[in-house]
Amino acid sequence: MPGVGFEPTRPEGQVGLSDRRLPISTPGLPPRLPNLPNRPGANHRRQDGLAFSANTTEVPITAQTAEEFGGRLFQASLGLLDITAVYLGDRLGYYRALAEVGGLAASGLAEATGTHPRYAREWLEQQAMTEFLTVDDATKDPEERRYSLPPGHAEVLTDRDSLSYLAPLARAFGAAVTQLPALLEAYRTGGGVSWDQFGTDMRESQADLNRPWFLNVLGKEWFPAIAELDDRLRAGARVADFGTGFGWSAIGMAQSYPKTTVVGIDVDGPSIEAANAAAATAGVSERVEFLHADGVPVGEKATFDVVTAFECIHDMSDPVAVLTAMRRLMKEDGFALVVDERTADQFTPNGDDLERLLYGFSLLVCLPDGMSSQPSAGTGTVMRPHRLRAYARAAGFRDVEVLPVEHFQFRFYRLVV
Ligand SMILES: C[S@@+](CC[C@H](N)C(=O)[O-])C[C@H]1O[C@@H](n2cnc3c(N)ncnc32)[C@H](O)[C@@H]1O
Repeated sequence: MPGVGFEPTRPEGQVGLSDRRLPISTPGLPPRLPNLPNRPGANHRRQDGLAFSANTTEVPITAQTAEEFGGRLFQASLGLLDITAVYLGDRLGYYRALAEVGGLAASGLAEATGTHPRYAREWLEQQAMTEFLTVDDATKDPEERRYSLPPGHAEVLTDRDSLSYLAPLARAFGAAVTQLPALLEAYRTGGGVSWDQFGTDMRESQADLNRPWFLNVLGKEWFPAIAELDDRLRAGARVADFGTGFGWSAIGMAQSYPKTTVVGIDVDGPSIEAANAAAATAGVSERVEFLHADGVPVGEKATFDVVTAFECIHDMSDPVAVLTAMRRLMKEDGFALVVDERTADQFTPNGDDLERLLYGFSLLVCLPDGMSSQPSAGTGTVMRPHRLRAYARAAGFRDVEVLPVEHFQFRFYRLVV
């Protein structure tokens, strides 16, 4: 490990490097959890979408001293190491083993997971050091120490049905760092890195992060807040779900609305395979089918009551073509729903933690994905409301309305004809 030639600046009363617990100036970011913390002094975004009027006031960025800024990068490095260790613990099954059996020693963890005991021991010690795991007696021989995963940590790291499940986030970063050479090349040439190239880790990360929301919240809170949509689906509607990925949005709609049928559409073959398997397991295959298509299924015209696109328009190389297909497939009195990132209305430096997260994803994932097929609109994760409105109008919709659904990460738009 390279030397760290400074001690991060600490607010009065907090302990320093020699005390081993470093001050964390930015609270941890749980991106899928409500109440995203803001950095002190960060600009607050309006939550009401399109009504924002342009603000031309210059926003000063707080410049830090070299020591302060070095401290910030040091903290960021610790975060990166934690997330990378989560990737190992998730993919190697360490967390699942610890959630099942409390008080595992390195040899027990290695045996339960088919891994090498020396690596298991190092990972356990790192996890205790960073306070993800507890240890029964630190003074014991390293091979004798027993480690446990506290219940709250187990929920975040292993409970696939929990809204707090965040282990899949580490898979997205794992997939992205694996593609760093390709990303460098894309930045130089204007090319991209496709969803397919990011591979299984990226697909599964996306699917698992949104799954509990689609299965547990969509039909209970999100759609009931949109009375017209809820009524139509309750009565029984035909839905086309674009960019469906592993199909959890389609499955969630079918499960919540038993008279409704859904066609999920995605350009990615392995995602469609996973979606078909998920629908069969969920017991909704009779009302949910999946099409492997480039957003524009042939032969269908104005036959759908509802068309949807969840967290995917900003990834698409040609969002206008896909929105045009949605417009074409929708009945004249149909309902078009786009759910995408709750960006601020305009670019303002020193934005909140969600803006920082969205830009980070845009650098590493969504912009390169969108640029992987040319010509590309080059949207990126930070698709602001005015940008979606321009796309929608180009696709033949009259306007875009923000719907009254509260969510810390997503904004719900109705595309009106
Ligand atoms: C970020 S994922 C979102 C998946 C899913 N909607 C969710 O919320 O978990 C974006 C999806 O859009 C799909 N996609 C991108 N371009 C597409 C296109 N032109 N037609 C259909 N699907 C597309 C990708 O294959 C990927 O599965």
